[in-house]
Amino acid sequence: MGCLFSYLQPRRRETSSRIDDSRCSHNAESSKKHSWEACVTCCAVSFTFKELATATQNFKVSNLIGEGGFGKVYRGKLESGQIVAVKQLNLEGLQGAKEFLTEVLILSTLKHSNLVNLVGYCTEGDQRLLVYEFMPKGSLVDHLFRRAPDIPHIEWNTRVKIALGAAHGLAYLHDVANPPVIYRDMKAANVLLDNDFNPKLSDFGLAKIGPVGDNTHVSTRVMGTYGYCAPDYAMSGKLTIKSDTYSFGVLLLELITGRKAFDTSKAGGEQNLVTWAKPFLMDRRQFRKLADPSLQGCYPAKAFHQLVVIASMCLQEQPHFRPIIADVVVALSHVASQPYLPEGGSRIFCSPSSSPLRDARIPPAKF
Ligand SMILES: Nc1ncnc2c1ncn2[C@@H]1O[C@H](COP(=O)(O)OP(=O)(O)OP(=O)(O)O)[C@@H](O)[C@H]1O
Ligand SMILES: [Mg+2]
Repeated sequence: MGCLFSYLQPRRRETSSRIDDSRCSHNAESSKKHSWEACVTCCAVSFTFKELATATQNFKVSNLIGEGGFGKVYRGKLESGQIVAVKQLNLEGLQGAKEFLTEVLILSTLKHSNLVNLVGYCTEGDQRLLVYEFMPKGSLVDHLFRRAPDIPHIEWNTRVKIALGAAHGLAYLHDVANPPVIYRDMKAANVLLDNDFNPKLSDFGLAKIGPVGDNTHVSTRVMGTYGYCAPDYAMSGKLTIKSDTYSFGVLLLELITGRKAFDTSKAGGEQNLVTWAKPFLMDRRQFRKLADPSLQGCYPAKAFHQLVVIASMCLQEQPHFRPIIADVVVALSHVASQPYLPEGGSRIFCSPSSSPLRDARIPPAKF
């Protein structure tokens, strides 16, 4: 098989030097000749099944930390002492070999502090396993919607930090990876958190190499998760980087409201978060009704207003009205520069006449 992503590489270095692209430095010409195995083995470790069975104590139930469409995820300890998450492909599952390959190729080629690090993989016999750095705080879902009794509500500043980090990860895929990568799976379950709530995007099995040259979109089978999928992509199958912007807008709305993108436990009109939120998003005087009650009013009014405007821009029906993710990063940095300060922070909602995105270079929202 030819190397699907052998030509995929970071396009430019970010000034923050977050990108560690030193481990995979093929140039486009030479790497075209590489088999995908060669491309992968230069960057990720190949484990034997026995090594991973030992690491997870034979996939002991007490080490099970989650389960998704791909299969079960176990906590493990490698011989080196490193704690990892081991994801085992469910051989009867819907997601399969193609997603496995895409995941390994993307994550072994692209490195960024806001993308989960792939430690290695196993392809012994029928087995397909992925080994990731262990993210001690699990996924954003565990903190927003599936809170165990001992897990506190996430406060405003942490929500903004998560939003900004996730946007940085997406900006890396769109603007630094060459050719660009469309993530296609932006959702709370795929935002993993370290001990300091730094977010890392995970699950690249659905990712697509973005349009190159004069092309504006990639035609694909519609994939993704209900509630996060951009309407234009769902209708046409035409995938663009703005499809990710929309899904990111849904994620922002989840952080703002504490509501799930799609929640079957709610009444009909409230199941789809965007549908529920739209009337509030269209009227600045109603923005405050979007606030997650668990925040208990503890957020800076002006920055809250700005975050809602950013979310509504990302959620524009027409993809060309949605901002590129680089502009979202700028706008979110502005929001992050106004943290909630319990002592001096204002709890009074700002007036609708204020212009929160004046510095963020994003036009006002309109549906
Ligand atoms: N690297 C990791 N570190 C710690 N926990 C992880 C890691 N990767 C996954 N998990 C845990 O395993 C759970 C399942 O993850 P997985 O990616 O398999 O499924 P999902 O994203 O929830 O759903 P789906 O894959 O079906 O879209 C996550 O919600 C998270 O709690
Ligand atoms: Mg996931």
